[in-house]
Amino acid sequence: MILSASILSADFTDLRGQVQQAEQAGVDWIHVDVMDGHFVPNISMGAFMVETCKRITRLPLDVHLMIEKPERHIQAFINAGADYISVHIEGNPNIHRTLQALRSAGVHPGIALNPGTPASHVSAVLPFVDYVLAMTVNPGFSGQSFIPQVAGKVSEIRKMLDQMNPQASIEVDGGITAENLPIIQTAGANIIVAATAIFRHPEGIAAGVRNLRSAGLN
Ligand code: DX5
Ligand code: ZN
Repeated sequence: MILSASILSADFTDLRGQVQQAEQAGVDWIHVDVMDGHFVPNISMGAFMVETCKRITRLPLDVHLMIEKPERHIQAFINAGADYISVHIEGNPNIHRTLQALRSAGVHPGIALNPGTPASHVSAVLPFVDYVLAMTVNPGFSGQSFIPQVAGKVSEIRKMLDQMNPQASIEVDGGITAENLPIIQTAGANIIVAATAIFRHPEGIAAGVRNLRSAGLN
């Protein structure tokens, strides 16, 4: 299991300290949630935050673009030091070109899909990605509840990937807790994003990471 800590729930008055605590606690990646106020009803952060994280940590940066027309912005995120970039299938007629552009730039391309989007909508691009990001909440905010029905879709995507692109991973994002983690891993997810469960754990970041690690199947 790859654990990707979403800084959306971090205390930004001490971003360096928070990211370093997560790193020391053993998270694998740092997840940066980019929201434009159009694709989702919230505005978060831009490429400058990726560049900031790059100066704070050596961990891979996993950038989740919840924005319209991502093709206009991917170069800025690549320049900022993103290692993984996921773009949403919804409302993106040029998605294949965007994924190819990410690949040519040496970034790992990912395709993201919302809870309301069927697995079949991503099938045509599965051969061109390194991972599929299945949203387990509607994107826009951290701290929402996990939608358990997405587990069935994760299994469906895993089967499709086994046929078309067996090396590719499945990332899940939204409402992940120690309780639902084994369910979604059993369905086929191997990259786990968590914001609240890590950065808002009542006993601190290290306890949050420990809790997820001990609940995880591997
Ligand atoms: C939601 C973001 C998630 C979010 C996860 O739109 O994509 O990455 O930060 O937060 P939690 O783990 O609190 O649901
Ligand atoms: Zn995210």
